Amino acid sequence: MNLKNAAITAVHGYLPEHIMTNKELESIVDTNDEWIRTRTGIHQRHIQKEVGKATSDMCVEVVNGILEKSGTKASEIDMIICGTITGDYVFPDTANTIADKCGLTNAFGYDINAACSGFLFGLTTGCQFIATGFCKKVIVLGADKMSSILDYQDRTTCVIFGDGAGGVLLEPIEEELGFVDAILKGDGDGRHILHMKAGGSLKPTTKETVAAREHFVYQEGKSVFKKAVNGMIDTTTRLLARNEIKKEEIDWLVPHQANLRIIQAVASGFDFSMDKVMLTIAETGNTTAGTLPLCLWKYEDKLKKGDNVIITAFGGGLTWGSIYLKWAY
Ligand code: UT7
Repeated sequence: MNLKNAAITAVHGYLPEHIMTNKELESIVDTNDEWIRTRTGIHQRHIQKEVGKATSDMCVEVVNGILEKSGTKASEIDMIICGTITGDYVFPDTANTIADKCGLTNAFGYDINAACSGFLFGLTTGCQFIATGFCKKVIVLGADKMSSILDYQDRTTCVIFGDGAGGVLLEPIEEELGFVDAILKGDGDGRHILHMKAGGSLKPTTKETVAAREHFVYQEGKSVFKKAVNGMIDTTTRLLARNEIKKEEIDWLVPHQANLRIIQAVASGFDFSMDKVMLTIAETGNTTAGTLPLCLWKYEDKLKKGDNVIITAFGGGLTWGSIYLKWAY
């Protein structure tokens, strides 16, 4: 099969208007600004406060932004993938709701439930559909309304997450740019250290599960921290070796934004300069599937055609991996 080059040709993001500062959290839960800044690097996060607004509504802003920026008609989109763990409903998926709200009348799509790796897995999937020629225009989103599944009585989780969405347009291009390679990994055995205890078919919602506060993010932070650092270093190192790229040739590292200390440990794990690491964590906290496209959106003006970009993430599942691409515009 004659494979095509799949490239990101537009990027956009959306952050809800309300900014929740560390100070505001101090009035809700037993925490303090100093602990949050020094242990996580987070100064604030955005929260979608309007009643009746969901993950799909943030994605609508992203999709409309992508269409406008790229001069693409809604009817031209063939496929939409949404990485999320906070879909509007348990079912159906959110991708189809977004397609409906944005008038993507010719698109099929689905969600990818890979937590913080949702955009990483979605981007790899979307690129395969472009490479084979099955699709010509694919939108890949990463979006989470984490505030809808946070326990604001649990200081170990509620301070680190925020709401946000980002996405990209993928198209085939003639030049030798775009997606080059990826290493994606999973380990279901680690599902117990990062998950939501109830609300699924294993433990459906009951009065007891609600009373026990089991419909929120549960995380064993220290274990996840170690696995995240080791996982992202491992897949990035192997991806560089397999593609014979030296670290000096990488222009940008785009890491999942869970904790500044994790990002610094990953960068120092392969002796990579922090000047070339994209960071949004201080302003947004951890927006789960949203972090990677939000990084690309923030740094869009700094990215140059031909730049070597490594994207890496780690999250619930457990899921993790790294992508190597050459920026196309
Ligand atoms: O994105 C998906 C993947 N997720 C991640 O990658 C997150 C990975 N984990 C982490 O980022 C960190 O483990 C956390 C930020 C979640 C926690 O940081 P930590 O340095 O691992 O803290 P800890 O859980 O070991 O807690 C240290 C202390 C404890 O007090 P004692 O027992 O030493 O007295 C906690 O009770 O800090 C306390 N603590 C807090 N204090 C003030 C925990 N959370 C808070 C808080 N405010 N919000």
